Amino acid sequence: MSISLAGKRILVTGASSGIGRATALAAAADGAEVLLVARREAELKRLWREINDVDGAGEAHVYPCDLYDTAGVDSLVDLVLREHGGVDVLVNNAGHSIRRSVRHSVDRLHDYERTMRLNYLAPVQLTLGLLTAMREQRFGHVVNVTTQGIQVHTPRFTAYLASKAALEEFGRTAGRELASDNVTFSSVRMPLVRTPMIAPTEEVYRGMPSLSAEQAARLVLRAARSRNEIVNATGGAVFELADLAVPNTMRRLVHRFGYLPRPSLRPRRRRS
Ligand SMILES: NC(=O)c1ccc[n+]([C@@H]2O[C@H](COP(=O)([O-])OP(=O)(O)OC[C@H]3O[C@@H](n4cnc5c(N)ncnc54)[C@H](OP(=O)(O)O)[C@@H]3O)[C@@H](O)[C@H]2O)c1
Repeated sequence: MSISLAGKRILVTGASSGIGRATALAAAADGAEVLLVARREAELKRLWREINDVDGAGEAHVYPCDLYDTAGVDSLVDLVLREHGGVDVLVNNAGHSIRRSVRHSVDRLHDYERTMRLNYLAPVQLTLGLLTAMREQRFGHVVNVTTQGIQVHTPRFTAYLASKAALEEFGRTAGRELASDNVTFSSVRMPLVRTPMIAPTEEVYRGMPSLSAEQAARLVLRAARSRNEIVNATGGAVFELADLAVPNTMRRLVHRFGYLPRPSLRPRRRRS
């Protein structure tokens, strides 16, 4: 069932940085034609030059777009359909994370609205825009980059994790509906990755196991090649199993873990 990426048209959102950038480079090295999407045009052009310099193996195209902007995403879809007729693989990778306690979010509905727009509605809009062409060519695969956090239910990430859970569910349900059109969906439940995204919370994650952007890109491309519905890292699967086996213990543990940056799983001493 595993497919080759050589010659495939692969659109990667969030290609200007981190996991998306590494994914675009790796896909191009495999001979794919990559369509690079993000807001920072200069970064995309730098990547374009890098890809076109590598032995002529890959081919890249730059599409600056702000995915917050619904009209901008419509224009992006029109342009891609006009210039390429469609894509074979769509990697919905661009995203934004917010770490804020729900108790400090009571007057911040906009955090939830913005996160849903970028992490959920924009990928859905892109998928819908490119779907008819995928169905007509009787091939398409969508990789949604989600997060291991939806297996852990990490405190302080309500806006972020709800948006990623929505995206995963959209893809799983659509994939089960569209299998006979040969259009499939993967969710990559990404573990912690050392990218600019986690820089603001570096202190919190210090000492925790994490992947490089290149290792993360390998997970994304594993999903693209295998077309598996879910691509898990081991840690997330362990959390999920533990949640099934001992849900109350897990709730207590994850609650304590949520009060990082001073992680201590030791019980607090009682005051005498
Ligand atoms: N790093 C982790 O630990 C981790 C863990 C689990 C899941 N993930 C997920 O992995 C994905 C990639 O994250 P990363 O770690 O590689 O972060 P990153 O280095 O900060 O990259 C984020 C990318 O998203 C793009 N982006 C942000 N807002 C955009 C907008 N409005 N329109 C278009 N593009 C936009 C950025 O490009 P511009 O700024 O140029 O627009 C950038 O290319 C995200 O979906 C994230 O949720 C990351």
